[in-house]
Amino acid sequence: MYKSPLKLLLLLLPALVVVPGCVRDTAVSALDSELERTLIRLSVNSSLDDYMLPDGSNLAGIPAGIGNPLTEEKIALGKMLFYETALGRDAINPNQLRTFSCSTCHVPEAAFTSGSAQGIADGGLGFGTFGSGRVMDQSYEENQIDAQGARPLSMLGVAYVTNSMWAGRFGSRGANAEVAEVWGVHDPATEINHLGLDGLESQNIEGTITHRMSTDAYLLDTLGYRRMFNRAFPEFEGDARYGRVAMSFALSAYIRTLLPSNAPWQQWLRGDKEALTDSQKNGAKLFFGKAGCYRCHNGPALNGNTFHSVGVNDLCDIPGGALRTSADDPRNFGRGDFTRRAEDMFKFKVPQVYNTKDMPFFFHGSSKTSLREVVEYFNAGIPENDRIPASNISDFFHPLNLTDTEVNDLTDFLAEGLYDADLQRFVPDTVLSGNCFPNNDAQSRADMGCE
Ligand code: HEC
Ligand code: HEC
Repeated sequence: MYKSPLKLLLLLLPALVVVPGCVRDTAVSALDSELERTLIRLSVNSSLDDYMLPDGSNLAGIPAGIGNPLTEEKIALGKMLFYETALGRDAINPNQLRTFSCSTCHVPEAAFTSGSAQGIADGGLGFGTFGSGRVMDQSYEENQIDAQGARPLSMLGVAYVTNSMWAGRFGSRGANAEVAEVWGVHDPATEINHLGLDGLESQNIEGTITHRMSTDAYLLDTLGYRRMFNRAFPEFEGDARYGRVAMSFALSAYIRTLLPSNAPWQQWLRGDKEALTDSQKNGAKLFFGKAGCYRCHNGPALNGNTFHSVGVNDLCDIPGGALRTSADDPRNFGRGDFTRRAEDMFKFKVPQVYNTKDMPFFFHGSSKTSLREVVEYFNAGIPENDRIPASNISDFFHPLNLTDTEVNDLTDFLAEGLYDADLQRFVPDTVLSGNCFPNNDAQSRADMGCE
């Protein structure tokens, strides 16, 4: 039956692990299959598919929002609007007119976060390297600037976010369906949930108001966006075709395509077992095993539509402080700010964890500045924020007793295994205004070498 000596050798391989040259291959494949079995066991449909991200161009494979089917025309429009500083026409001071965009606080090179501890759009100046150098414009009063009391969330994998923002306050489905009585009550903006849309689509209607953006004849006719809106929204009548719902639907359609599907982890899931190193595979084993990360970070985007406190500091706690926020900022309550229910206090939505290597700041309060620090924080399992009662901290947040090698492997998995090196494929070469983006103030233009 065993015709060739080679087949015989293969059959005996497991017994030959001590033979130099065979060691690596055998060990790798055992690690691969162990990891696959674990993932299948932890997945909803007993399949590796549950962890796979569709390609950003595979519109049929990407979760769409209620009432907002994904089309090439909407995505093309959203891809411009997200970076178009000409939308920033409701700036408070004339010197800031048309100088900021969504991407001011969601910079692709900073994993679509702000690149600084806190994002500032209207009322900020400069860009530095990937957003790290933006500061307050001294011609503004502090309470006039557009800055929030939490770090901007990433746009990666938001197609898998049911209730958006750290508090999950937007969207009519998911956890919010159970608390319809608080919509619009403590946070008037969340009245929008009554439209029955999903998180992104509802939030971005409000978002263009918060961030002082709107369309006008200059944008539509002089710059030529009217044609793009016409193609994207033929079913919208009259001025509604160029209004806030249309802007939100285009922006939401675009950000739904921001999927880090070229990350080595994704390649490994698709069958390229060489895409991850052994250290990264060991890190993945820890993520989905001993370190317990999967209990909150799961699914294709490794995020979660649940709310937990892992005891981290707030933005007001950063050295030097933050703008327009304080220890009393209700945003520090997390989901409790939206629901005001005791059990939701200090709990934050579980964020995605791709491309975090590019994030200069971690957690809602930007309290950590490296991935290793984040892993060490979870490993120690000691809350850093004394304002949070112990009873509100998650039971899953406790000392993990990982060894130094395990901390290294887990960090390596996060930093390299979950890193898509080609996010530029999602960024337009230019926007119709031809403006420098994401920012167009003089200091930013100088910082980015736009002139
Ligand atoms: C001034 C900075 C700033 C600007 C400008 C900005 N954002 Fe954000 N964004 C944030 C912050 C901060 C958060 C998190 C706030 C929170 O949850 O409390 C956020 C969260 C989000 C989220 C939620 C993601 C999730 O996982 O829940 C989306 C979606 C989003 N922004 C899209 C946009 C779009 C689209 C625009 C342009 C219309 C925009 N943002 C402009 C700062 C900004
Ligand atoms: C109890 C649920 C839970 C567990 C377990 C958990 N996380 Fe998280 N993770 C969260 C939440 C919630 C946040 C956001 C916390 C905040 O900012 O207040 C977060 C934030 C993060 C961030 C920062 C992302 C960002 O945008 O700033 C990283 C990285 C991360 N977790 C990795 C891990 C790793 C690695 C593990 C396993 C060692 C892990 N998490 C275990 C819930 C969890």
